[in-house]
Amino acid sequence: MAVLPIMIYPEPVLRVECRPVEAFDAKLRRLVDDMIETMHAAPGVGLAASQVGVEQRVCVVDLSVGEDPKALHVLVNPVIREPRGSAADVEGCLSLPDITDKVTRPFEIEVEAQDVEGNRFVLQAEDWLARAICHEVDHLNGVLFVDHLRGLRRERARRQLRRLERQEALA
Ligand code: NI
Repeated sequence: MAVLPIMIYPEPVLRVECRPVEAFDAKLRRLVDDMIETMHAAPGVGLAASQVGVEQRVCVVDLSVGEDPKALHVLVNPVIREPRGSAADVEGCLSLPDITDKVTRPFEIEVEAQDVEGNRFVLQAEDWLARAICHEVDHLNGVLFVDHLRGLRRERARRQLRRLERQEALA
């Protein structure tokens, strides 16, 4: 296993619509293992493949950050269904350092996905788990949490994104 470099905004891969996974092979298992290790090392509660430069529909979520093996969810080709309710809470993203803001998301979702071997399953999630999954599935569609902000919050996020663009230009 290896800790992979995390792509930071404005890296173009963060805006890509990732492709469905078709091959459930050793390469995929290796990617998932590396993504779990990278998420835990960051530390973070979720990571999408595009954040490590891989344009495939794979994400990992672990609200326990490695403390509880049952809290680890590997989602291949995830599809969110049945969003219910709504809740606003503060989010951040490993690809948007130093930016946090309140995002409104469904309180409860159902997600249909495949595991690393290709077996289909349905996961019911609510509250923070639903939020984390929605955030990661957004990444697979090239969407960042700041895209959900409106009004003054959106203006502030735009300024912060421009700062990241300048830092990238200097790097
Ligand atoms: Ni993120």
